[in-house]
Amino acid sequence: MKDFDGKVAFITGGASGAGLGQAKVFSEAGCKVVIADIRQDHLDEAVQYFRSKQAVVHAIKLDITDRKAYGAAADEVERVFGSPPQLLINTAGVNVLGPAEASTFEDFDWVMGVCLGGVINGLVTFVPRMIKAGQGGHIVATSSWGGFMGGATTAPYSAAKAAVNNLMESYYLALKPYGIGVSCLCPVGIRSNIFEATLTRPQHLQNTGYNVNQKTIEFERKFYAQGIDPVELAHLLKKGIENDVLYILPFPDPEQALKDNFAHILNYATPEGMKRQAEIEKKRSAEMGKKPNPMMDGAEEAGWGKAKQEISWVAEEHRVQK
Ligand SMILES: NC(=O)c1ccc[n+]([C@@H]2O[C@H](COP(=O)([O-])OP(=O)(O)OC[C@H]3O[C@@H](n4cnc5c(N)ncnc54)[C@H](O)[C@@H]3O)[C@@H](O)[C@H]2O)c1
Repeated sequence: MKDFDGKVAFITGGASGAGLGQAKVFSEAGCKVVIADIRQDHLDEAVQYFRSKQAVVHAIKLDITDRKAYGAAADEVERVFGSPPQLLINTAGVNVLGPAEASTFEDFDWVMGVCLGGVINGLVTFVPRMIKAGQGGHIVATSSWGGFMGGATTAPYSAAKAAVNNLMESYYLALKPYGIGVSCLCPVGIRSNIFEATLTRPQHLQNTGYNVNQKTIEFERKFYAQGIDPVELAHLLKKGIENDVLYILPFPDPEQALKDNFAHILNYATPEGMKRQAEIEKKRSAEMGKKPNPMMDGAEEAGWGKAKQEISWVAEEHRVQK
């Protein structure tokens, strides 16, 4: 997709962070923008911004995990703009960190429900409508660099994002004949409000195994403030859509980063490789130990990425390798 003028862009999570950056950039490019978000306060603020720019914007309060509501939102878009979106951007997401072994079902259901289930709901709701409309278009998922690897404290998030990467590749291949492009945006860090994600965690999924409290939220506020500016990221996304590339990798030297990443998978595939990988990791953590990492200042004191205190079996004394 190269011409955005007059196109309808439906952006989940469009009222904050990466999604708001995308709404701004595609609105400036001439799109009629629908921002769909679970947070009414974020929607109100965003609508005020777009109205002040005389931009065409429509806000829908939507929980992307609610399939019925998603269908109703799609009907609303057609009622308001006369067609389904030509540009569908699945950006809404949440995150919470803690040791994989402390994860509860609710940690998985919440994070995977939004980050993976929400994207699935977007695809299943809109793809048939986009095909029937016969106008072509482009579909994006905002995934993460985290989807290319596992992490000891990122299990639900990494699993969801890995699945999203894979899913988008399937849809890329499937939707080509319909003139619908597909891209998967894989950022590292974004200056956003994701540190507040826990505020939208539903009541029935509150049970977490992780240490989440005001201190960890405060730490995250500073941590994410060091990420890429959402508008800058959205410009990189726009360029990726214009060039019709599947993976958009907005970080330095993506080729080397991905080569290193896939090398670790090959290493994990043989006993000799496992030793090689263990050496690499040992060296890496020794180097990290030597260098101060200002991004992580305060993480330890806040207990970020730790299990909640009641979970005693995550403690040191239960570890075989200390
Ligand atoms: N912040 C980062 O460092 C980072 C890095 C890589 C990828 N990402 C991804 O970027 C995307 C956007 O996140 P962000 O960092 O801009 O965070 P953000 O919190 O600023 O924006 C996310 C928006 O999604 C909304 N949302 C959450 N749950 C929802 C639901 N169930 N239904 C509808 N809307 C919902 C939130 O209300 C919020 O407005 C996410 O998919 C995230 O995983 C973020």
